Amino acid sequence: MRVVVLHGSPRRGGNSDTLAEYFVKGVKETGDFEVLDFILNDMDIRPCQGCESCAASAEHKCAIDDDMHQIYSVFAEADIVVWATPMYWGYMTAQMKIALDRMEALAMDPEKYWVNKEFVAILTYRYHYQSTIGFFERIQDYFRFKFNSILYCSKNEDGPEDFHVSTCQDKLDETSSLGRAIGIKIIT
Ligand SMILES: Cc1cc2nc3c(=O)[nH]c(=O)nc-3n(C[C@H](O)[C@H](O)[C@H](O)COP(=O)(O)O)c2cc1C
Repeated sequence: MRVVVLHGSPRRGGNSDTLAEYFVKGVKETGDFEVLDFILNDMDIRPCQGCESCAASAEHKCAIDDDMHQIYSVFAEADIVVWATPMYWGYMTAQMKIALDRMEALAMDPEKYWVNKEFVAILTYRYHYQSTIGFFERIQDYFRFKFNSILYCSKNEDGPEDFHVSTCQDKLDETSSLGRAIGIKIIT
């Protein structure tokens, strides 16, 4: 049983990273899960060049030879895929969006890569998250994954510094509970 976690924030140990960690902790309490973390900010992943070779080739292989192939190679066998990203300018971070565009190579075969997987969007934000959650909800009909989300507003109304999620025990508990619930669904 495998969990693939895509970390979209450049801030290690930030809000989305911390929530991903609590989610995985919950999952691991339920069984023997292999967890594969991908820190997108540290990976060499080029933007999609729109060459359409993934559509043209029989095996839908992406023509760009870079670290994205580490993700391609484990995606089909993932039972749970976590997308953890802060909102940046009304959407996910550039790091996450680049990886998402490169998922085009996996979009050609929904049955193999998407259908019935547990997908978890962890979105951290100060003002709004709707445009990113809306995106995941919109593609859900076509890809038929099971969609779950954790949302955390880090805005501190009284000062310039955000509230780190580690100060919000309820959110940490909600997140590990979701991990446990999804883990139990998978093992039973
Ligand atoms: C460059 C940049 C752009 C941001 N844009 C938005 C935004 O459009 N909407 C929003 O609600 N928060 C925005 N934020 C706030 C972050 O989403 C928020 O601080 C989040 O909790 C950070 O998560 P992290 O700790 O996982 O990096 C932005 C922050 C940065 C640095």
